[in-house]
Amino acid sequence: MNDIKQVETGVVPESARILAQGIERAAGPVALACSFSVEDIAIIEIAREQGLAIGVFALDTGRLDEETYEVAEAVSQRYGIRIDWFFPRRDLVETLEREKGLFSFRESLENRHECCRIRKVEPLGRALKGLSGWITGLRREQAVTRAALAPVERDELNGGLVKINPLLHWSETEVNEYARQRGIPINRLYGRGYRSIGCAPCTRAVRPGEDARAGRWWWESPEHKECGLHRR
Ligand code: ADX
Ligand code: SF4
Repeated sequence: MNDIKQVETGVVPESARILAQGIERAAGPVALACSFSVEDIAIIEIAREQGLAIGVFALDTGRLDEETYEVAEAVSQRYGIRIDWFFPRRDLVETLEREKGLFSFRESLENRHECCRIRKVEPLGRALKGLSGWITGLRREQAVTRAALAPVERDELNGGLVKINPLLHWSETEVNEYARQRGIPINRLYGRGYRSIGCAPCTRAVRPGEDARAGRWWWESPEHKECGLHRR
């Protein structure tokens, strides 16, 4: 009970403030980059409650789990929103798969970055066109690479757009409590031991005691576990 109270009176108002401040600073169209993680859906819930107008876009890498598409549809229906889907460039995927096969990302860090570049980073560039700001569900405690996040920052690598990270101060427990309390749709994979969800072949469930992101690119070391969307 205490946890729930703390979420609603503690971390949520701060997130609402960060969102409003970021949107004001962007002074133009702002959209959420949505992977349909619990974090991302919590942001939609908060924005809706605060009456803040944001777009929602998603990068369909072509390698997402069926469960991710299912929760995407549930979110679209619950909030009555359109999801702006972005696919990778067909020519780039065709060349990659013909020349290197379907699992090249397992062979080297270079190949993994190449796949993420084609399937995520290039489409992100197109998704951000015409926007003044973008919102993410990044949290500081998720990774060593995220510990120094700011609530609102200039994304110099993406044309100086305002980047808004309203959930940066939340813990995993707070995210889950909020989702439970609000009854927001969540990816069924969380119920099967997943704690961070990306592309199907690069994500697995984690074992008790493992780090929450241990199931992402599990063959790589922690300082490499970024797909390039959040380079700083
Ligand atoms: S990743 O770098 O390891 O893939 P992670 O899965 O933790 O990132 O997600 C962090 C944030 O990046 C999400 O909250 C979301 O804002 C954005 N994001 C990640 N994947 C996607 C996607 N496929 N489509 C849109 N946004 C995404
Ligand atoms: Fe490719 Fe894996 Fe990156 Fe998805 S997470 S884009 S499948 S390397």
